Amino acid sequence: MPTNFEILPSNQPIADEIRDNILKNPGFGKHFTDHMAHVRWTVDADWHGHQVRPYGPLTLDPAASVLHYGQEIFEGIKAYRHADGSIWTFRPEKNAERFRRSARRLALPELSDEDFIGSLKALLAQDQAWVPTPASASDECSLYLRPFMIASEAFLGVRPAHEVDYYVIASPAAAYFKGGIAPVSIWLSSNYKRAAPGGTGFAKCGGNYAASLAAQKEAEAHQCGQVAFLDAAENKWVEELGGMNLFFVFKDGRLVTPRLTDTILEGVTRNSVLTLAKDEGLTPEERAISIDEWREGAASGEITEVFACGTAAVITPVGELVTENERIKLAAGGNNEIAMRIRTKLLDLQYGRSEDKYGWLTQLV
Ligand code: COI
Repeated sequence: MPTNFEILPSNQPIADEIRDNILKNPGFGKHFTDHMAHVRWTVDADWHGHQVRPYGPLTLDPAASVLHYGQEIFEGIKAYRHADGSIWTFRPEKNAERFRRSARRLALPELSDEDFIGSLKALLAQDQAWVPTPASASDECSLYLRPFMIASEAFLGVRPAHEVDYYVIASPAAAYFKGGIAPVSIWLSSNYKRAAPGGTGFAKCGGNYAASLAAQKEAEAHQCGQVAFLDAAENKWVEELGGMNLFFVFKDGRLVTPRLTDTILEGVTRNSVLTLAKDEGLTPEERAISIDEWREGAASGEITEVFACGTAAVITPVGELVTENERIKLAAGGNNEIAMRIRTKLLDLQYGRSEDKYGWLTQLV
């Protein structure tokens, strides 16, 4: 039974020609559609008040606990336009499940699959004109959907809030990195850690991203697009980037990614790459990989490619790892052939150009 969302249409939607211009060159996360979905939760009434209403500022009490204690979680998922005009999303049950995992860690209420996927469908029914049409098979334009949940109760005591709001906003998106799919330089953070055992690293909460920003600033000062974090306990094991997972291609066909721990966010793209890699004849391995193995494998030619992946970044090759005193480049490879092959496979699937043999697509409109 789909959840019923009350529809309150905007009486000031963005004009068609302005929207069409935005869709030609949307960038990432800069423009927003005409509506947003909203569901409210209170300790007494559970989830209620399902609405799609005009996009606009939220009214929050200055004492709302999200503003003080950061009780917040979010998701990232995309809507893709297929050649016949229909609109689809990719593995939304995985995002819904992760959203519940994040909610449990942040002591927020859990949202059902029905409400999570229902909110995406209800929003897209209103804002479908905002989903860009890809210009070619390598074009990764989409409508990026950002579900999020905040503690909105006005209360300064430190305890889980009794009032919570869930929203979905949507933003037309092109490539996440300015250079598109050009290899990105990564800064290795030596001063900062993103997550520690027992902490919130596996949850998609704002605090993890806030904790990555000082390191991201260092990355930018060194002309790097992202920052890589090592584990907090031993300062030795590669974990993830500020907002993406990492993969290493070995010359013998192994595809290695750090195994999941409570300090690593399980990416839906990461999980999908592990499956698609097998179809490509690669041997996926989820295991700990040290910074020394990265350095030595890059130098010896054992590692032929490194790439980052995520919903926003799709698959982006990593050109080099930069530290205070070295630049770790790949002695071999450099054509990123495997990364590009997996990227094409993933995009073909998401845009309906290949058979959905794993049943990963859900139609939104
Ligand atoms: C995503 O890939 O959806 C994220 O949330 C990461 C962020 C870099 C936008």
